[in-house]
Amino acid sequence: MKTEILKLLRSTDGYVSGQQISEQLGVSRAAVWKTIRRLQDEGYQVEAVRNKGYHIVETPDVMTKEELDSLMKTRWAGRNILYYETTDSTNLRIRQAGDEGAPHGTLAVADRQTAGRGRRGRTWESPAGNSIYMSVLLRPDIAPNKASMLTIVMALSVAEGIGQWIPMIQIKWPNDIIVNGKKLVGILTEMSAQVDYINHVTVGVGINVNMTEFPEEIADTATSLRLECGHTGKRAPLIAAVMERLEENYEIFLKTEDLSGLMDRYSALLVNRDRDVRIIGEKETYQARAVGIDHTGELLVRREDGSMEKIYAGEVSVRGVYGYV
Ligand code: BTN
Repeated sequence: MKTEILKLLRSTDGYVSGQQISEQLGVSRAAVWKTIRRLQDEGYQVEAVRNKGYHIVETPDVMTKEELDSLMKTRWAGRNILYYETTDSTNLRIRQAGDEGAPHGTLAVADRQTAGRGRRGRTWESPAGNSIYMSVLLRPDIAPNKASMLTIVMALSVAEGIGQWIPMIQIKWPNDIIVNGKKLVGILTEMSAQVDYINHVTVGVGINVNMTEFPEEIADTATSLRLECGHTGKRAPLIAAVMERLEENYEIFLKTEDLSGLMDRYSALLVNRDRDVRIIGEKETYQARAVGIDHTGELLVRREDGSMEKIYAGEVSVRGVYGYV
């Protein structure tokens, strides 16, 4: 009932009467009042005015299943939410949910992770109360070798979703989101597949929202929305905004099963674009100028002799962007 009441309160700038709520939800006015009190206890500022009804003035940074459900405007992305105060890793939760048959678009969100995972076997620090740790379950009917493009779809969706709050956002190919040269978001995509068939894909996203301190190893290279904007952010609306962008971008991706409908928007946000990058490949390390991505998500670079190359995997460092100078 909390979710429905939150939705009703948010559906108008004015007041909603207790009578209206109880009629629409088919519950007693006493039950409505009790739920409003519970919302107030959680920190929602709900005004109750005699003869007018209820009005929501301010929502704190609450991240509960009900808050997330009440904000979701999508059809499938984030429509089935698994919420955890603490879990090992939302990527593991989604992998398990995927194995157990959870629907496409299922979203796991945690306030804290005890075994947060980063790329290349690194850990992802996941303290409680100030960051977003979430993973989405995707069930695309595409060949397994196309799944890596989903990371790019997510990177674009996160950048566009949180870009409404912080406009200076850029993407470091393929899937780090950065602001002022520091990392704000990390994405980890994992897949359960057979040789020619994808069972499901888990796309995990870690967003530093209100952190003001980082572990020593990443203190120089990481940042948060709060540090960059100068004020705290609310996590649930950020998650809802990313889900909206994901739903649209994923559907565009599926039409062609490649990134042709997204690559221009992605390339426009690319920090590497028109900059010198260092390609640390398996065979050689060289310097080149990044041009953008192609429809498969490969980074196009121009070498010093003018020849063009496509970078599929490996490490790309950009001058001035954390670490490489
Ligand atoms: C990276 O190394 O840049 C990727 C970090 C991905 C972290 C997120 S947090 C939510 C999800 N669960 C995990 O264990 N990892 C991802």
